[in-house]
Parts: sequence; structure tokens; C-alpha cells
Amino acid sequence: MDVPQLEDLPPLQGKRVLLRADFNVPLDGDRITDDLRIRAALPTIQWLQQQGATVVACSHLGRPKGEPDPRYSMEPVRRRLAELAPGVELLENLRFDPGEEGNDPAFVARLVEGMDAYVDDAFGAAHRAHASIVGPPQTLPSAAGRLLAKEVEVLGGLRSSPKRPFVAILGGAKVSDKLGVIDALLDVVDRLIIGGGMAFTFLKAQGHSIGDSLLQEDQVETCRQRLEEHGDRIVLPHDTTVLLPDGRVAQLGVDLPNGAKGLDIGPGTAAEFSDIVAEARTVFWNGPMGMFEDERFAAGTRTVAQAVAECRGFTVVGGGDSAAAVAQLGFAGDIDHISTGGGASLELLELGDLPGLEALRKAPNAPQ
Ligand code: 3PG
Ligand code: MG
Repeated sequence: MDVPQLEDLPPLQGKRVLLRADFNVPLDGDRITDDLRIRAALPTIQWLQQQGATVVACSHLGRPKGEPDPRYSMEPVRRRLAELAPGVELLENLRFDPGEEGNDPAFVARLVEGMDAYVDDAFGAAHRAHASIVGPPQTLPSAAGRLLAKEVEVLGGLRSSPKRPFVAILGGAKVSDKLGVIDALLDVVDRLIIGGGMAFTFLKAQGHSIGDSLLQEDQVETCRQRLEEHGDRIVLPHDTTVLLPDGRVAQLGVDLPNGAKGLDIGPGTAAEFSDIVAEARTVFWNGPMGMFEDERFAAGTRTVAQAVAECRGFTVVGGGDSAAAVAQLGFAGDIDHISTGGGASLELLELGDLPGLEALRKAPNAPQ
């Protein structure tokens, strides 16, 4: 990777290091429901402490609107971090100041004051050109932390040198959110499996009647084009689990009557997707296959999660909902790489670069 690594920093004994982490953890009130993002930063923190540095960590949490909001206080993170990594200082939520998202030079100046070096380990936020991401490397010797470096190695490797067959599974609600990554994946994958709500816009483009299922009317033509050009590699559902107007749940094909709402892939489709995954030597999965929060519509996501877990190839799960699904279903230990980034992992797959990486590449200590 062409961004500076921890080893490219000057000696850190007695120095203060500003660590941008992504501690944007899911909360239930003030209880952290998944501390993956805090644990994922520990290798970097421990390395810095072993070098004799004082680590001053900072992060955003949620989306406060540029002013202090007690609902987004870093306090829960501070408590967990103190247990996992004693001795780390932690700044208050960066987004309590409008200068963070506005990338205000005055805010950057306050962040770097008294700091000797900067480390970016906030992979999940590396697609944001915010002050704490792109500002400090302009003046401080800087490096990617272990987590950021690993994410870039794994996700970048999917683009450049995947073992084949390479199968990608995309789910989630909206085609428009995933179009960039769909196109990027179609450049490299052998099969692109599409499930979740967005599959219905593709099915509509094939001429199916999709009842009351999720539809992005303005994306139908786009889906039709992709199917025309790449239809041999795009795999769509052929049966669905639907909610009927009278509240019953039924298994139907992909031509749905009015009022029927497809909320999960059907059992036949789940089996077909699993068979394709079983043969893969590389798998990338992002986005649930259905509304898995509701047990009646969780089977498709569960079956696919299990297939990914059992696949003997190299398996990568994108962050956000699919990472949560895999953890909730108990398969996390069987996945080779679970990304800590949702939007960031998709943007890196799509563009091959991120604002946070670009900034590190321009740091004063970056290898020329
Ligand atoms: C995330 O959770 O996706 C990252 O922490 C980025 O958060 P954001 O989408 O609010 O910028
Ligand atoms: Mg495996």
C-alpha cells in the first residue's frame, strides 16, 4: 500500500499521538450493543503505547448537528475504552463542532495543537473528507493504523487479484445506493447475486409483476441496461417470501399479485445462492437478503450467512447491516474479514481510493 505505515513515523517515545478512530458504535441508550469498532482499534493503540507514545483518541459518534448533544456523548465509549486500553485519552465527539464536517482549518489547528504525530485508524469514516480525517496529515507526520491498513489490503485485493470464481452478493433496499458498487463489481466478479429489496427493481426490469414490493421506478431502465449487458453474470431471485394484504406470509414466485409485498428471498432462491457461494474461492457480501429483523423474513439472510460462513474460499463481509446480521446469527468467527466500514467499504470497492487515504499519501513523512 502506498500510504505511510506506523513504521514510517518518527520515534514516538514521550510523544503525543492523535489517533482518529471510528468509535461510532451502535448504542441502546448509553449501552454499547457491539464494541467491534473499539476492539478493532486495539492493535494500533497497543503498538503506539509500546513505542512510548501517549495516545489521544478522537472520533465522531452518531450525527449530532454541529453542537453538543448528550445523546451522542462519548461517555459510553470512554468507559469501554478505559477497560480495553487503559491510559488512552479520548476527546469529546468531533461532530459537536461544525468545524469537523465543514473541514474548517481553525478546527484542524485545534486538533493538532500539542500533537507530534497523527494516526488514522478510522476506516469506517475514511470516505468522509472531514477535518479530523484530511486535516492533520497536512502538517503532522502521519500513518495508517493497523485496522485501516488491513481493510485497504483486503478490500483493495478484491478489486485487483481475487481468486476465482469471485462471487459478490449484494442486498439492501435501494438500487440507487449501490449502483456505483454494482458497476465496479461487474468489472471483476464472475457472478453478482442480487437479493434484498433492490432485487425487485431488477425483477421489474425483466418484466415481472412485483406486487407491492419495494420499487425504484426511476432505476428500472438502469437495471434493464445492466441486465442486457451482464445478464449472464447477474443472478436474481426466482422465488420470494411475501406478506399478503390479510397479514399472512406466503411463498410465491417472482410474479406477485397486487397487494403482495416481497420481504425476503424464497427458499429455492436461498438454496441456489448458497450453491453458488459454496463453489466460490472469493466471496464479498454486503446487504441483507430480506427484512431480517423480523423473524418471518430472516430465513434468506440466515441461509446466505451460513453459506458464506461455510464457504472454504476467502470470505469478506461489508460493514453495517450485513456485519450485524453475521454477528447476530453467530457466524462472525467463520468469516475471514468483517469490515468495520459500511459506506467506506463500498466506496473503496467502487473507486479504489478514499479521501482519508489520499490525505495520508500527502503527509510530510509519506514515502515519495
Ligand atoms: C459509519 O458508521 O458508517 C461511519 O462511522 C461513518 O458515519 P457517518 O455515515 O455518519 O459519516
Ligand atoms: Mg472461509
